[in-house]
Amino acid sequence: MKTYQFPEGFLWGGATAANQIEGGYDVGNKGLNIADVLPGGKERYDILLSPGFDFEIHQDQYYYPNHEAIDFYHRYKEDIGLFAEMGFKAFRMSIAWTRIFPNGDELDANEEGLEFYDRVFDELHKNGIEPVVTISHYEMPLHLVKEYGGWRNREVVSFFERYVKTIFHRYKNKVKLWMTFNEINSSLFMPIQGLGFAIQQEEDKYQPTFQAYHHQFVASAIAVKACHEIIPESKIGCMILFAPVYSFDSNPENVMYALKEEQLFNYYCADVQVRGEYPAFMKRYFKEHDIELEMLDGDKKLLQEGIVDYIGFSYYMSRTEKKVKSVEEASEGNLIGGVRNPFLHASDWGWEIDPEGLRISLNKLYDRYQIPLFVVENGLGAYDKVEEDGSINDDYRIDYLREHIKAAGEAIEDGVELMGYTSWGCIDMVSASTGEFSKRYGYIYVDKHDDGSGTLERKKKKSFFWYKDVIATNGRKL
Ligand code: BG6
Repeated sequence: MKTYQFPEGFLWGGATAANQIEGGYDVGNKGLNIADVLPGGKERYDILLSPGFDFEIHQDQYYYPNHEAIDFYHRYKEDIGLFAEMGFKAFRMSIAWTRIFPNGDELDANEEGLEFYDRVFDELHKNGIEPVVTISHYEMPLHLVKEYGGWRNREVVSFFERYVKTIFHRYKNKVKLWMTFNEINSSLFMPIQGLGFAIQQEEDKYQPTFQAYHHQFVASAIAVKACHEIIPESKIGCMILFAPVYSFDSNPENVMYALKEEQLFNYYCADVQVRGEYPAFMKRYFKEHDIELEMLDGDKKLLQEGIVDYIGFSYYMSRTEKKVKSVEEASEGNLIGGVRNPFLHASDWGWEIDPEGLRISLNKLYDRYQIPLFVVENGLGAYDKVEEDGSINDDYRIDYLREHIKAAGEAIEDGVELMGYTSWGCIDMVSASTGEFSKRYGYIYVDKHDDGSGTLERKKKKSFFWYKDVIATNGRKL
């Protein structure tokens, strides 16, 4: 079997987000964030997008899985110990903005929240693991959503600036790798988690969405500049969801449609964050959708000055597109749409499994930008079964990961500069899209279920031992 050469110092590890693992949603003076009002279950987004949704907690009506999540807040030592046992070089996590600024608009930071992350970073370093920190991962303060209308409001930029400067100063000796907004482009499909507002009518979506995006780009540029000033030896990246868009066939109309979708979804945000300016194709898009961006003097310069050092991205699946598609052809489950690809099989949640698509993504991104890339999410959400003897034989997960790591190895041979690979959900946690615990990604099983029951006990799956070997051999043994 072919062996792959991953660079020395390659950042092998796993990825998480505060709202999906921590729990302790009202502990340590933490304020509520958007994830705290999201009910569990596949109907999560339907509830959220229903006209009466009020961004309040209704304990009598719904179960809120993010409130306790997997209780990383209290169990981080045990979990980090397990990551260390697998040999993790890096651990991707996020800081919950509401632990630091409970409402988002305070002048002073919450010391208890700051101390929590001090303890987590110290524990990681004690175990030889490099923290890779996402500044905002679908956990905007709820107060900013309700009182300010989310990122539509320019004032939010200054609150974010206060937050990022606070964490850069506080953790400058502990964190050298940062990312600004998780999957920033995902708000094009689902603005609520990233931009902090819901769109109920399709026709109302354009102006507020793209204005909110502009504010996020400005905020990201401010964060990049501040990071470079406060922590000169740091690297800060953007983070995008990358699903390469394939044309369903060679019909030029479909090819052009796929190209346009790719420009908008895969490149629009990255172009602004990596190149420091809006891409040419957005001019026509803005015109056709009556979008007029309000920009302040100095915004353009700021975007130029705040370009990122690397691109972090998630890769789960590709997307196949056709200009005119019937309901029957539509791919199921994933939010990004498209039609079913006859060459691919899908996961139990309808996400089409396409390892070659990762190699394609890495090549496309590197061809376009020529800056280091970092796969900061990739993995298989699957149902796991605990056998009578307590073992969990997740060979399907090992197969998925093996094929994707091979694809990354091929891309490195193609010449792509890849910094690392942190698979998603190295420990089971709450799913972002469905709020389920049963959609498991981890090497570590957590005894927690969709109805909220479970002991939270951690167990090593078969993939735990497999990944340990992968890391120990720097990817030679897959
Ligand atoms: C990404 C997100 O979209 O995919 C994560 O950055 C998320 O927060 C992951 O958990 C997997 O998606 P899901 O919906 O299966 O949890």
